[in-house]
Amino acid sequence: MNLPRRLAAPQPTWERDVDVVVLGSGAAGLSAALAARPVRSVLVVTKDVLSAGSTQWAQGGLAGVLDPSDTIENHVSDTLAAGAGLCDEAVVRELVREAPKSIRYLMRLGAAFDPERGGTDIALTREGGHSHNRIVHSGGDQSGAEVQRTLDESAIGAGVDVLSRAFALDLVMGTAADGERQVAGVRIGQTDEHGQLVSVGIVTARAVVVACGGYGQVFASTSNPPAVTGDGVALALRAGLSATDLEFVQFHPTVMWRGSDATGQQMLVSEAVRGEGAILFDAAGERVMVGVHPQEDLAPRDVVSAAISQRMAEAPGGVDDHVYLDATHMGERFYERFPSITAACREIGLDPATDRIPVSPAAHYACGGIKADLDGHTSLRGLFAVGEVSSTGVHGANRLASNSLTESIVAGTRVGRDLAWELPDRVSVEPEFEDPMALPLLNPARLREVRAVMSRHVGVLRDELSLSSAAGALGAIARDMSSVKSSSDERASVEPSRRSWEGTNLLTVAVAMVAAARARTESRGCHRRVDYPDTLDKWVTHLDVTLDSVGEICVDGTPD
Ligand code: SIN
Repeated sequence: MNLPRRLAAPQPTWERDVDVVVLGSGAAGLSAALAARPVRSVLVVTKDVLSAGSTQWAQGGLAGVLDPSDTIENHVSDTLAAGAGLCDEAVVRELVREAPKSIRYLMRLGAAFDPERGGTDIALTREGGHSHNRIVHSGGDQSGAEVQRTLDESAIGAGVDVLSRAFALDLVMGTAADGERQVAGVRIGQTDEHGQLVSVGIVTARAVVVACGGYGQVFASTSNPPAVTGDGVALALRAGLSATDLEFVQFHPTVMWRGSDATGQQMLVSEAVRGEGAILFDAAGERVMVGVHPQEDLAPRDVVSAAISQRMAEAPGGVDDHVYLDATHMGERFYERFPSITAACREIGLDPATDRIPVSPAAHYACGGIKADLDGHTSLRGLFAVGEVSSTGVHGANRLASNSLTESIVAGTRVGRDLAWELPDRVSVEPEFEDPMALPLLNPARLREVRAVMSRHVGVLRDELSLSSAAGALGAIARDMSSVKSSSDERASVEPSRRSWEGTNLLTVAVAMVAAARARTESRGCHRRVDYPDTLDKWVTHLDVTLDSVGEICVDGTPD
């Protein structure tokens, strides 16, 4: 298949040195930058502007035990239950213990979370899989925007430097005094506002923190914004690291359905709407979640998405591509509690106080990623990973709602604080022997095909037939990409640009995800195999995916 081991770009023409470079500017990256900054020079590299990632769009909020009638034990057991046997309990316990502190920290930084109606205590709501009300929110359904605003202002105010429209192409490697491989920096493609290449440079640093988020844009329909293109996972694979649990992509049960051909970022209809008592109905007027799970409409997300997909496949009332969410019991209170969702409903001529909202599942969150601990350490010295790009053991096979922003703040702050205390030694940059311009890039025009293949064949419900079709189609796209580069027709080769780098990263992640999904012959969490419906004890294990020296994806960890 020959996926590229470097992203094509011209030779670097500039260099810059800092103590810590952070790739990505969402909650995890900015928390790390802010915590390291008091004593370190810190550069945040974002391929767009600070708020272009998923944090800005998060609706639900942050989960943490703040109600005296709730307990750490409850939050731990809800997280473990959602994670379907693949969470690391010790890491979950650590996260849950630090969650309330991280929320109070954000408030001290200036985040305004909604108070209870008519009161001053902070309001706590519930989402799928939670046994208690423990989610703080802001602006009703604009929680992520408040977290992003708070961290943007705090990081800039603290003197964190930002390099915008700067694409992190690949890691730059070095060798430590003891002969161990260590990261020495990152190669950057600076672009203009249209994503066209302006220059290439190297940022050297003693620590590189990858916080590039997930890869929802690998699917045709997703709640993720356009910038979420798997850049961190692809960069790590090219650097020889393994990525874990890639088969576990969480599909949010309810994004607003705007027609069967709607593609790209879709409006989320927060799980908090079901937390406020909304109910799912099919087009024939039957309830979707009755008899499926004891928590019914507030079952964990994987259960609700699978039930909706199953119901849509049965096409009740002749409708096979959406169901309906009924929140009319809230009446006009809906407008105040969910202002963004209200605005989106009005755009399609609906009034959520009186109308049912058409919804369907869409790709939402990558439970897997670069293997790291809660302090961000990866298998490569000097490289740290935090937030959605990482796989720390908190989420297992299915993330519990609103644990992700919490994890980003906790892990990001821990990494930044550790780097403030101590930095890895400096290593010098190794010369590159390969000309990166000789490597192929995906023609951005083919990205539509990649996404269509992923949504058609690697969605909520999968089987060997659909996954092998996906592998075949992606393999053909990868082969075309390589043959264009080796053809003598120079006009055929693809120019380095933000779009072609993103496309190449998405293709790499898609191939890796399909390989992991094919290898896991069971159903668990958000990986549902129609041909292997059971959850099997022998599969209480993680799959590690790597990119080998000839650009083939390899999967390790399958049980005998
Ligand atoms: C939601 O508001 O439903 C999304 C929250 C999350 O993904 O944790």
